[in-house]
Amino acid sequence: MKNKSVGIIGIGSYVPEHEMTNKDLEKLVNTNDEWIVERTGIKSRRIAADGEATSDMAVFAAQKALNDAGVAAEEIDLVIVATATPDMSFPSTACLVQERIGAKHAAAFDLTAGCSGFVYGFITGSQFIQSGLYKKVLVIGAETLSRILDWTDRNTCVLFGDGAGAAVLGEVEEGYGLLGSELGADGHGGELLKLPAGGSRIPASHSTVDQRQHYVSMSGNEVFKFAIKIMGSAALKALERAGLTRSDVDVLVPHQANIRIIQSAAKRLKVPLEKVVINLDKYGNTSAASIPIALDEAFHSGAIKQGNVVVLVGFGAGLTWASAVIKWNKGDHTIG
Ligand code: ACO
Repeated sequence: MKNKSVGIIGIGSYVPEHEMTNKDLEKLVNTNDEWIVERTGIKSRRIAADGEATSDMAVFAAQKALNDAGVAAEEIDLVIVATATPDMSFPSTACLVQERIGAKHAAAFDLTAGCSGFVYGFITGSQFIQSGLYKKVLVIGAETLSRILDWTDRNTCVLFGDGAGAAVLGEVEEGYGLLGSELGADGHGGELLKLPAGGSRIPASHSTVDQRQHYVSMSGNEVFKFAIKIMGSAALKALERAGLTRSDVDVLVPHQANIRIIQSAAKRLKVPLEKVVINLDKYGNTSAASIPIALDEAFHSGAIKQGNVVVLVGFGAGLTWASAVIKWNKGDHTIG
């Protein structure tokens, strides 16, 4: 039996209200606006309110995506939440979201692939629809990174922000939707970006708290080099699998980690910067939420149009990478 075509039929996002600018950070650590803008492109980020957790933001984004798709929560067969900052180790954040939105017929699980998580989730969720097992899948990337940042470490705390983005996947006309993909991992680089304590290897204790091991630990330069190498090649592989070339790309939606990484990926792909979606100046790196937030903003601002070839590409902790090539279908080409 032929695989079904799967596309994004609804998209939505949410960022917390509280904005933290580079100037605000100057009061916390020894940094300055000029350094942050020049080295990263980030000007501001959103920070979750006290008591606001990953599932709360995920629910807001999911409800917007469901409305956008015109799909009721009861129609969802599967909820996938990509996150490195779940509300708790268990139950999964996906189960919390499933209950809150009323997706009572849906299976639910979390997926951990760092900042590549949303694209990993998109490709994973698509398989269930392609095979005919499920009809509608909700994929969410949601993060409350502010809770795992060391606000005394200028190397990391200036880079990240909180937020969530969600997409409803469904069957679309043949020739539209997901055309090609690439997923990858290199566990050898796991040490470069990690949250050392609080798991089974180093359980939480007074000493882990004293040693600040519950905060993000990152070798920025090494991650930077990896990102420069992998973003272009992952996107090219996905394009090749889609039977397309770099000149076919209408819109590039890269993971929003660092403007220099984005510029280098665009250069490698020979995609002019006008075709690249960039919003990291406003939100910083929201990890698994960054691509769906950027995609939502690009679509709803009119930057992505029917029939456009849209390339998503991300990299992250693991190390991982993921890319998806979509012939944009939202609107006219949905089935069912
Ligand atoms: N403000 C001022 N100075 C700073 C700051 C800051 N916030 N942070 C670092 N510096 C200083 C350093 O201490 C260093 O000073 P020194 O030369 O006296 O030692 C100097 O600036 C240069 O530091 P570098 O680390 O070499 O700066 P670099 O140009 O590499 O930029 C950065 C650092 C922005 C972290 C970059 O390496 C980067 O973006 N890496 C990728 C990080 C990333 O994308 N992580 C997310 C991965 S995705 C996921 O799964 C979460």
